[in-house]
Amino acid sequence: MAESHTVKNIPCEACHVSKEKMETPTITQCQQCHNLDVLVKQTESVKPRNPHFSPHYQNKLECSNCHIGHEPSENFCGQCHNFDFKVP
Ligand code: HEC
Ligand code: HEC
Ligand code: HEC
Ligand code: HEC
Repeated sequence: MAESHTVKNIPCEACHVSKEKMETPTITQCQQCHNLDVLVKQTESVKPRNPHFSPHYQNKLECSNCHIGHEPSENFCGQCHNFDFKVP
């Protein structure tokens, strides 16, 4: 996921804030470029459920639960549901 950004010349700091402390980016960082309302709409028709909106977390689940960063993505909902998500 992160690599698809760096190839577009998006700097490390866009997600990590500071080059000195590479902390796990929060939703606040991602949100600066990915409007949450737009995102929820974009994946509205994903089956079996919208990964960006749930009764538990609404649209507030930390992105890095699924879009891990520099490692393969994960299907966070899959811990409890049989949702067959392919997370980019
Ligand atoms: C699109 C956002 C994004 C960009 C751009 C990005 N990262 Fe990350 N990075 C992440 C996320 C998300 C994690 C957290 C992974 C996790 O939760 O385990 C992370 C984690 C890290 C970590 C902590 C070690 C690890 O893998 O958990 C380091 C170090 C790091 N990134 C370095 C960089 C460097 C250097 C760059 C620039 C070349 C960069 N990142 C660009 C999203 C990004
Ligand atoms: C500086 C702006 C910027 C930031 C910050 C940013 N993104 Fe992106 N992201 C983009 C752009 C631009 C694209 C490409 C959109 C396109 O091609 O339509 C993209 C594409 C994506 C994609 C789909 C492409 C793929 O397969 O990787 C995902 C998933 C994504 N971003 C997740 C995240 C997450 C999670 C974070 C926070 C850790 C984040 N982004 C932070 C600008 C950003
Ligand atoms: C529960 C897991 C999960 C979480 C949390 C999550 N995503 Fe996603 N994301 C997905 C899945 C699955 C897809 C692929 C949807 C599809 O099949 O088109 C996706 C696709 C995307 C895309 C590409 C959208 C497109 O045009 O198809 C972007 C951008 C993105 N996510 C950004 C984010 C951002 C930003 C956050 C945090 C606000 C986030 N995601 C949180 C699972 C997740
Ligand atoms: C820790 C376990 C857990 C996780 C993680 C989890 N869920 Fe759930 N979810 C439940 C339980 C328990 C119910 C209530 C039982 C039911 O009604 O099926 C539920 C109910 C739901 C429902 C309403 C019932 C339905 O099937 O229509 C939706 C929609 C849903 N979850 C979506 C999600 C999405 C999307 C994610 C990931 C972002 C997620 N859940 C993550 C446990 C979880």
